[in-house]
Amino acid sequence: MAAVDETTGRRNLESGNPADPPFSFADVADRYDTLNRLMSLGRDRRWRRIAAAALNLPAGGRALDVGAGSGDMALALLRRWPGSGVTGIEPEADMMRVGQRKPNAGQVRWTQGDGLHLPFPDGHFDGVVSAFLLRNVPDVAGALAEQHRVARPGGRVACLEMTWPQTPGFRELFRFYFARLAPPIMGILSGQPAAYRYLPRSVQRFLTPEELKAVMERVGLHNVHYRTLMMGTVALHVGERG
Ligand SMILES: C[S@@+](CC[C@H](N)C(=O)[O-])C[C@H]1O[C@@H](n2cnc3c(N)ncnc32)[C@H](O)[C@@H]1O
Repeated sequence: MAAVDETTGRRNLESGNPADPPFSFADVADRYDTLNRLMSLGRDRRWRRIAAAALNLPAGGRALDVGAGSGDMALALLRRWPGSGVTGIEPEADMMRVGQRKPNAGQVRWTQGDGLHLPFPDGHFDGVVSAFLLRNVPDVAGALAEQHRVARPGGRVACLEMTWPQTPGFRELFRFYFARLAPPIMGILSGQPAAYRYLPRSVQRFLTPEELKAVMERVGLHNVHYRTLMMGTVALHVGERG
């Protein structure tokens, strides 16, 4: 297992750091949702529902979705917590444009920006969530430190992310599906083969759930715990600002 860099929270990776995607999400924006449904066998919406519930927002609370992409996580928050104020921050305008066409997207406050430098004051949000973001940032600890900073004391920070399953037998089956079978098919369907070659590599090399928990604790989050979903292929971490 690769060692985790104390400062950045990243694994010490050789060349080809998967946290530096060899494509832009803008290039896959139009087909992103469809391919998500296919890759996850239709389960990704359920995972976001669970992550939305985990934020435990107060009535009329404020939530932030970091790396909002095409908005499915932000919209899941609005469905779970009607009346809340949901902000989605995302660097790629093309991803946001896909989200802005969805029903109820007008209720999301869309902000173009970087999750490593959140343009919000300390303690501004009652809850902060990211879905499938952290594998794609070059500084996991930095992103989490920002999420911690903008959460109010007692507010929750939740991270939904893919993780490589550990159960012998299933692990090999998953490798076959996720690293062998799906990438060429998704590459053809998306027209972006590099994006779908990157996907399994980025999951395989990302922090384990225990390592991610340790990074969340190191940036100051309390009561950090996690659960895995879909037979250990997805992890939901939740912590609180102290
Ligand atoms: C795999 S997509 C996930 C999108 C969405 N959260 C979802 O649940 O489908 C990752 C998103 O993170 C965005 N992203 C990458 N680097 C980022 C950064 N430094 N700050 C904020 N978002 C970033 C990408 O542009 C992309 O839209």
